[in-house]
Amino acid sequence: MLRCGPGATSRGDVVLVRQARMLTARVVVSTRPWRTATLLGAEERSGGEVLGRVVALRRGRWRVPLPRPFRPALWVAQRTLATAWARPETRLVYRGVRDFFFSGWSKPLRRHLVGPLAVRLLRAEDQDALLLFASERLVVSASFLRRQLRERWGLEDSERRGAAAGALDAKGRLHGFAWVDSYRQEGLPLEGVWVRSLVVAPQARRMGVATQLLACLLMEAHRQGEPSVQADVDEDNAASLRTFERVGFRRSSDALTRRTNEAWDAAGRSKRLVVLERDSGR
Ligand SMILES: CC(C)(COP(=O)(O)OP(=O)(O)OC[C@H]1O[C@@H](n2cnc3c(N)ncnc32)[C@H](O)[C@@H]1OP(=O)(O)O)[C@@H](O)C(=O)NCCC(=O)NCCS
Repeated sequence: MLRCGPGATSRGDVVLVRQARMLTARVVVSTRPWRTATLLGAEERSGGEVLGRVVALRRGRWRVPLPRPFRPALWVAQRTLATAWARPETRLVYRGVRDFFFSGWSKPLRRHLVGPLAVRLLRAEDQDALLLFASERLVVSASFLRRQLRERWGLEDSERRGAAAGALDAKGRLHGFAWVDSYRQEGLPLEGVWVRSLVVAPQARRMGVATQLLACLLMEAHRQGEPSVQADVDEDNAASLRTFERVGFRRSSDALTRRTNEAWDAAGRSKRLVVLERDSGR
């Protein structure tokens, strides 16, 4: 990223914007007034602090430069995608195609490609695997994960606070991840421990990996004396809601749901969340 303010950007530039606690990459869609949008057009906004212009995208080992002459092409692509994505039929077709590829028929092939997975608590020596997975699939900063693993999750049983669980293949690569910890670790004023960042790589979905990750974290929360575990899920994330409900999570009280949404609103997030909870030891 190249540090600069909105004045030094043009239509089609990708900028990094900080809104309260949220960092997002957004496309500049107009300069007068100055407005940005996500690639698929969601939440056109003018607010937020611009940290700079994105000059390259990195995903794992791959680095894709974003040269400035591509601005007009990126702006046209953003407008086209946003128009298409605004139509419910496009989203329906996209979800249908995605679910088709990652559903039952492809499971034996995917199982063969991924190989056996071991679901267990992560330790300090799993740091590299975790950071690689995070760079590809999570929006959580590497420094936060490194610190949590070193100072809390990766410690011996007697000292461990919170925990991270991963699904590892024979080569030690992560295909699924989640952690449980106090929200206060992330600066949110919410009590208790919460499941965070539950993500399974597409090739390993619908194989029970998320279910095993949750079981592993619930067991550890119980061992640490936490009576219950909470989770918050985007209200339109049907796959995640089903996953939590299938392992016994139930909707929390309206009061906790309201408090959680208010805490996230104050942190700059606008999507509605459903709050779920479960006893840790059933
Ligand atoms: C949500 C997610 C973690 C589920 O992971 P998973 O390993 O595929 O889940 P499981 O295989 O354990 O599925 C458990 C149950 O949840 C339900 N479920 C999971 N994915 C589903 C989907 N796409 N559609 C409908 N139901 C789904 C099913 O009932 C499933 O059991 P079944 O396969 O026996 O029918 C995964 O889809 C994911 O990583 N999504 C993107 C990231 C995300 O949204 N994370 C949640 C943030 S709160």
